[in-house]
Amino acid sequence: MCGIIGIASSKLVAQNIIHSLKKLEYRGYDSAGIATIVDNEIHEKKCAGRVDNLEKLLFKNPSKGSLGIGHVRWATHGIPSQLNAHPHSSDEVSVVHNGIIENSTLLKKNLEEKGYKFKSQTDTEVITFLLTDFLKSYDLVDAINKTLKALNGSFALGILFKKYSNIVVGARRGSPLAVGYGPEENYLGSDSYALKSMTNKITYLDDGDVCILTNNKIEFYNSENKKINKKILTLSEDKQFTDKGDYKDFMSKEINEQNITAKTCVKEYVDQLRKDINLYNFPINPKDIEKIVLIGCGTAYHSCITAKYWFEELTNIPIEIDIASEFRYRKINFNNKNLYVFVSQSGETADTYAALDLCKKNNVKTCSIVNVVESSIARSSDFVLPIHAGPEIGVASTKAFIGQMLVLFILAIKISEIRKEINKTDYENKIDDLQKLPDLIKDTINYCQDNTPIIAKDFIKAKGSMFLGRGLSFPIALEGALKLKELSYLHAEGYPAGEMKHGPLALIEEGLPVVILAPKDRYFEKTISNMQEVIARGGKVILITDEDNKIISENVRFTLKIAKTNEYLSPFLMTIPLQLLAYHVAALKNCDIDKPRNLAKSVTVE
Ligand code: M6R
Repeated sequence: MCGIIGIASSKLVAQNIIHSLKKLEYRGYDSAGIATIVDNEIHEKKCAGRVDNLEKLLFKNPSKGSLGIGHVRWATHGIPSQLNAHPHSSDEVSVVHNGIIENSTLLKKNLEEKGYKFKSQTDTEVITFLLTDFLKSYDLVDAINKTLKALNGSFALGILFKKYSNIVVGARRGSPLAVGYGPEENYLGSDSYALKSMTNKITYLDDGDVCILTNNKIEFYNSENKKINKKILTLSEDKQFTDKGDYKDFMSKEINEQNITAKTCVKEYVDQLRKDINLYNFPINPKDIEKIVLIGCGTAYHSCITAKYWFEELTNIPIEIDIASEFRYRKINFNNKNLYVFVSQSGETADTYAALDLCKKNNVKTCSIVNVVESSIARSSDFVLPIHAGPEIGVASTKAFIGQMLVLFILAIKISEIRKEINKTDYENKIDDLQKLPDLIKDTINYCQDNTPIIAKDFIKAKGSMFLGRGLSFPIALEGALKLKELSYLHAEGYPAGEMKHGPLALIEEGLPVVILAPKDRYFEKTISNMQEVIARGGKVILITDEDNKIISENVRFTLKIAKTNEYLSPFLMTIPLQLLAYHVAALKNCDIDKPRNLAKSVTVE
């Protein structure tokens, strides 16, 4: 969460900082700010709200200076406001920060006793005053080191100094930070995406690293204060994904791209000629795996629940699923015959990264399923399976969910084949099904595009809503409810349909919208019975099914009849109407679709 940009140049930097902050807004968007060095003085401008507000401020009163830092905030300590917006500056330094300083209360008390006057409620301001204080007695590098050593918690920092007015300093512990190499200028960014419009040559900082940028040089130091060299990576070009094109927002673009996501992903993993799945250098022989543990957060966790059904059915390996923020603090019995799989779109989610780190410290085999292959999670795991969805900008995860499920399904089939749990024909049939999936997704998007706006109207007036499914449709029900909540701020519950009578049925009342996911699978009749129980209590049912039988849909308010596929692949198609439904409800409520309130795309704090 929060986005950092820093530029050391020989030209004016404010405009490029604003441009990059706009790209970083997916990380946080409750306030924004910029600081530059002009005539050896720090100049700071900040405001509550979006980068657009900051841009207006700069339009009236432009920022000069060829060195600067900028920030977009996702509030942790202190309300979203101008005072709490970053940078936080003293006469000597200006600081932008991502992460959380856990001992800030104690540090603040000590600094106040020394006479420092705090203006904000943030944890960041302690960094400003610590640096200011250490600079009184130490040179630059020592003052930075002493400051970093005093901090507990996580951070990525961008710092300007009045006294050292030709440098921008970056430091990382726990929160990602990258530097970029440009022509006659250098950059600091909380991710490569923010830097892409300026350079494709970047270096990622590791935990404990400090970097010092001038307009023509970048130096790196490790946590022992030793000068180090770091690898420069060349980023790939993915312009088509970072432009909204004719779409109103990124989310609708990303929903509409899901057939392409599926197509690219299948192409990357499936050898069509040999009818086989490519999986080279897997870190553990699938025949030796005793258990697979799937870990993620939010939507990525929902893909793990879906995969549990596939893996159990196809591989005969015991499966455990875990929410990363729970896994990281539980007492886990690690076993080096187990495979630990981490699912994350961004590859930067703090809890997922911490869970992976715990596995690494316990010397077990790790594999990550990520969208961002340069991410911290990808770089730290033994094996990476990219989902190839291209950048996902909308905060609500859509195409990445399809990609995550697809890679997990592909992995399940391959492990099943290697362990001889399915025969050759079955294996090849599944591969054939995979080839058909992109077109089925496209048809479903087209069909639901026209049918979901009318259904959305029922949700606006209602007190809340429920999403029910069994088997593979249960995690999709959870995902449908999550999408609706995060986009439209309306209460929604996802439940296994069979659990209703154990409590949630009490919520059903006249007119409550209830989405029933009922593909024609082994649970179909049971799900339809649960649906009747809802109807009998006045629930307004929206049935999503691939079954033709008209009788089942009597008394149903709306039926969405989606394309037929087999049981394994139905989660992919069932997801689409739910994404579109959430989208249209949010659009009717005039919510900010790409940037829902209180959220951020990359959750880099606990
Ligand atoms: O980048 P990740 O996949 O690790 O992110 C995990 C969750 O924060 C994310 O899926 C979140 O739940 C989405 N906003 C849901 O749409």
